[in-house]
Amino acid sequence: MQPAIDLSPTAQAAIVEALNQSVAETAVTTMLAQNFHWNVTGMGFGPLHALFQEIYEDHFQAQDDLAERIKALDGHAEGMLSKMVERSKVSEHDGHADDRTMVEAMKVAQETLAATVGAAGVLAAEHGDTLTEDLCIARGQVHEKFAWMLRAHLR
Ligand SMILES: [Fe+2]
Repeated sequence: MQPAIDLSPTAQAAIVEALNQSVAETAVTTMLAQNFHWNVTGMGFGPLHALFQEIYEDHFQAQDDLAERIKALDGHAEGMLSKMVERSKVSEHDGHADDRTMVEAMKVAQETLAATVGAAGVLAAEHGDTLTEDLCIARGQVHEKFAWMLRAHLR
């Protein structure tokens, strides 16, 4: 199959690796958000339940967009949950926590994801892969927005 852009094998492998890292962390954060959507308690239940849902719905679509960019580059999209958890810099959570702790954990997850997709975008740009760069920039903007919304709860 002919990939969408003519990258050297080294560049293609590096970009695919960075995208698989992004998919893994996005998937772990999707589950984290759904976990908190289910288990959050407190007087802020309504808005937090809704915010966590907004996050997991966004991230579920993003996993697909990132993984399908890997396929456009003729790479292998890693789809095993165990491998995603293993490589992810975002950690799982057992869901037993108060609302503030959940907001803090999700804020860290969003900041981590912003850094991961940001680095993937820089790498893609270095190799002239502007379409991957564009996707990563778009994802970074979403994660920074969610990070800001979560930080605003903690002031
Ligand atoms: Fe729900």
